Amino acid sequence: MRRKLVVGNWKMHGSRAANEPLLAAIAQARPFGCDVAVCAPFPYLSEVALAWAGGDLRWGAQDVSVHEQGAYTGEVSAAMLAEFGCRYAIVGHSERRQYHHESDQLVADKAKAALARGVTPIVCVGESLAQREAGETDAVVKRQLSAVIHTLAHCAGEMVVAYEPVWAIGTGRTATPEQAQAVHALLRAQLQAATPHASRMKLLYGGSVKADNARTLFAQPDIDGGLIGGASLKADDFIAICRAAG
Ligand code: PGA
Repeated sequence: MRRKLVVGNWKMHGSRAANEPLLAAIAQARPFGCDVAVCAPFPYLSEVALAWAGGDLRWGAQDVSVHEQGAYTGEVSAAMLAEFGCRYAIVGHSERRQYHHESDQLVADKAKAALARGVTPIVCVGESLAQREAGETDAVVKRQLSAVIHTLAHCAGEMVVAYEPVWAIGTGRTATPEQAQAVHALLRAQLQAATPHASRMKLLYGGSVKADNARTLFAQPDIDGGLIGGASLKADDFIAICRAAG
């Protein structure tokens, strides 16, 4: 049985004053019976690391540079993240694909850069509403995942995959458990053809996961937890989602 993983994606939210009680409340609510992490904006990572030092709660970044080091103003390398205990880096979130024009190959290269430093990439895939309505969901997510599988090669089994339908992100419109499971099963099959570790890999669902829909989503056979945006900013909601996964 795969242990579930719940990851909060704070996006560009937070402040030192707001983070402190949120992190403390999550730490106080443990244990959850699942793995729990938050991916915070870069300036807050050390605050999370300090608040959760020595415990089993994990933390990650929301992006990582494809480069090792050098003249890349504004970028943060995987080595820098790894240096102080970063466990995860989200790569290929639809907001980055959309607003920063990140290609499938760039996303794959970022995943590789993270893994090379021992930071687990959480690779996001997902279709837009237009793509779903055109019946292109399967082709889109397979293409996105295929670039990463190809680039990571024998290390493909080390990533976490997050299926996040773009139409469900921040909209309050969640994929039904059946819709999500269907895509997760497809992704699992694709991974199975590529790595002997597919059956132990974690596939997260993301997109308007809330306390009241988490349990049925997480009960699906190929859904191993969630990537939580809006609800990860409210301690009670996030804790309830973690409990639903435990
Ligand atoms: P949401 O965001 O939970 O607010 O829909 C999820 C995500 O973008 O990771």
